[in-house]
Amino acid sequence: MFSSVKQLRIDLITLNVLSLARRPLFFPNCLLFSYISCRKFSFFFALNKILPGGRGLFIERGPGLLLYAIGDLHLSLETNKSMEVFGGAWDGYIDKIRNGFSGLGPNDICVICGDLSWAMDLDSAAKDFHFLDSLPGRKIVLKGNHDYWWSTATKLQSFFDREGINTIHILHNNCYFYNEYAICGTRGWFFDQDTGTDQDRKILNRELHRLETSLQCAGDRKKICFLHYPPRYHVYVCQEIVSLMSKYGVTDCCYGHIHGFAKRFVVEGNVEQIHYRNVAADNVNFKPVPLL
Ligand SMILES: [Fe+2]
Ligand SMILES: [Fe+2]
Repeated sequence: MFSSVKQLRIDLITLNVLSLARRPLFFPNCLLFSYISCRKFSFFFALNKILPGGRGLFIERGPGLLLYAIGDLHLSLETNKSMEVFGGAWDGYIDKIRNGFSGLGPNDICVICGDLSWAMDLDSAAKDFHFLDSLPGRKIVLKGNHDYWWSTATKLQSFFDREGINTIHILHNNCYFYNEYAICGTRGWFFDQDTGTDQDRKILNRELHRLETSLQCAGDRKKICFLHYPPRYHVYVCQEIVSLMSKYGVTDCCYGHIHGFAKRFVVEGNVEQIHYRNVAADNVNFKPVPLL
């Protein structure tokens, strides 16, 4: 088994999940172990200044690994905000999600592009996390505008450890290595140059910083960027985010957030050397979209 395991490799850089660094973690068919991932000391030192506890993990497994993305599951198994009230595509959406994930293998990876749960805190989100954990594949989760349960990476990892959740990882000021690719991203933000407030500018600047940290972690690898907010929508362009992706050579960008009627204005396909995809669950029939 382990001879084929070396055909594919994911390096996972976590910069602030200290608990992961304390002991080996075991996934089916794969071994994870901590190592200091930044090859240049100065780069490592710089990252450590931003996020103490820089660590990385290898994830090794057999052939056939696929990378998927989906966003906006809007789970509500504990709270009373089921998307069923909207009807249409959302009718029976929990079963649709379960069916949609059924094609994934246990070691496939699915990036969840935000708006995972309606829960307002971690304890209220437990049922949603257990549901996601029960689905096939390993999930990399980034923050959406409705993820009020979001906390620090350390607190999230402690929560996962306490709850026995071991297929969910957080994308936040870090990146994950997938063969020659790096999985990068952040929530993003809508920012209109004409109507944006000072507060919007502040939030955008923070998101730009997080995205650049993630892209810098990727080093020389090809970069795929995952966002919650679309950097392009109809005639709108968040030029700062697009420019940052271009600067770091991002080839693909997946995003969520756009639902229902609004999807008619989504920007998809190639624009200035970046391939865009909207992967909000109701726009992809609740089935993770295969990327690689
Ligand atoms: Fe959203
Ligand atoms: Fe959403």
